[in-house]
Amino acid sequence: MANQAAEAAERGQWKSRLGFVLAAAGSAVGLGNIWKFPYITGENGGGAFVLIYLICIVLVGVPVMIAEIMVGRATQLSPAMAYERLSPGSTAWSVVGWMGVLTGFIILSYYSVVAGWAFDYLLIAISDGFAPAFASGASVEDAAAVIGGMFGELYGDFGQNLLYHAVFMAVTIAIVLGGVQRGIELGARVLMPLLLLLMVVLVGYATTREGFGSAAEFVFGFNTEKLSAAGVLEALGHSFFTLSLGMGALITYGSYLRQDDDIVAASGVISLLDTGVAIMACMIMFPIVFSVGGEAGAGPGLVFVSMPIAFAQMPGGYIFGVVFFALLLFAALTSAISLLEVVVAAVIDKFGTRRLPATIGVGLAIFAFGIPSAKSSFMLDGIGLEWSFFDTMDKLASNILLPLGGLFIAIFVGWVMPADKTREQFVAGSRYGILYGIWRFLIRYVVPIGILMVFLNSTGLIDCGR
Ligand code: TRP
Repeated sequence: MANQAAEAAERGQWKSRLGFVLAAAGSAVGLGNIWKFPYITGENGGGAFVLIYLICIVLVGVPVMIAEIMVGRATQLSPAMAYERLSPGSTAWSVVGWMGVLTGFIILSYYSVVAGWAFDYLLIAISDGFAPAFASGASVEDAAAVIGGMFGELYGDFGQNLLYHAVFMAVTIAIVLGGVQRGIELGARVLMPLLLLLMVVLVGYATTREGFGSAAEFVFGFNTEKLSAAGVLEALGHSFFTLSLGMGALITYGSYLRQDDDIVAASGVISLLDTGVAIMACMIMFPIVFSVGGEAGAGPGLVFVSMPIAFAQMPGGYIFGVVFFALLLFAALTSAISLLEVVVAAVIDKFGTRRLPATIGVGLAIFAFGIPSAKSSFMLDGIGLEWSFFDTMDKLASNILLPLGGLFIAIFVGWVMPADKTREQFVAGSRYGILYGIWRFLIRYVVPIGILMVFLNSTGLIDCGR
């Protein structure tokens, strides 16, 4: 016992229960919630997409989250090694672990480019760049056009994108170099509550706009018109992306957890927080979009166009704008850190590299791999027929690699790990131990079959209606 405690202390552990929840929530809440979710909801026509996404969170996301944290805590190891420890001699499972590492690598490469946009917008907000759109009696529509053009310009500017991508990666590398835990835990403790508070205030403002009714109708109305099999896959993929699942990030975070923490309750809280922020982001942005006659399906620029319009108009908009983009950048940073940490930890564990060269080497490689993502936004402009590296990487990671990783983790925990081991992990310190049977059923049957069906349906092999 004493031995175990000493070992844990050396590897590092979360200071408190709340610290773990906040750090995991910091990883989960990011660009996925505020940038990506509203724009893919817009593209998929709202209501029905949101409902399917919520079903995916409850029936697939939460059980997989419990499974990942469980594997991490049981082994106290990072993903690739954890699989090896739990199923000795099986190379197939360590391949799964390494697939997760590759996924993290890919995601961070373009995630950093988008975070770079947030950085650029923070600078614009600080220099009071949104308000002039309304100068000299411009109408809301005129202002919206000016602000839309502003994003188009950044979007097409390879040099700018590259610069901000470099800056963001440098900051991420610097934090991961310094050892993640104290930094993340402390930062998350202060900034997560601030982010929640600001979101609530902005929702309050959004309710005063004329577009609020149509926005609520759009997000909560059951509108199946635009929903396709590809949209269902996107909802599933996004439920993994937004909860940071499917590549072992939460295996890593779970490995720093104490044996008496409540995994079930923590997973519930993290998922609720994450989903709450995503839905709030929609309720903040769509009223603005609708009240200026904009398009919900406008694509990746949604947050960068709708929010500045609001800040240019609302009382105290300057300060709200600065705080919003600062928090968006911070939310992106806490997520990016978890992505980089997974890749770095795997390299350290596998090759015995020291943290310094491992972090810098991996960070530079990810930066380099992200260069075409900074460039492709240039090609996306215009007819929309040009190939986008950025979009291809996002779809590959979110819609294929993450659900596949989730499928494997479910099979591993549901079918390979002995039941007494998973039960022990599930009930330890948990008030929700009685849910074990339900969870086990979900992880053994519902999750794998659900993921397979969505995959097959989206490739057209089986046809479930639409
Ligand atoms: N969940 C983060 C977001 O929504 C992104 C992210 C961070 C992530 N770590 C991850 C996604 C691990 C998948 C896996 O922005």
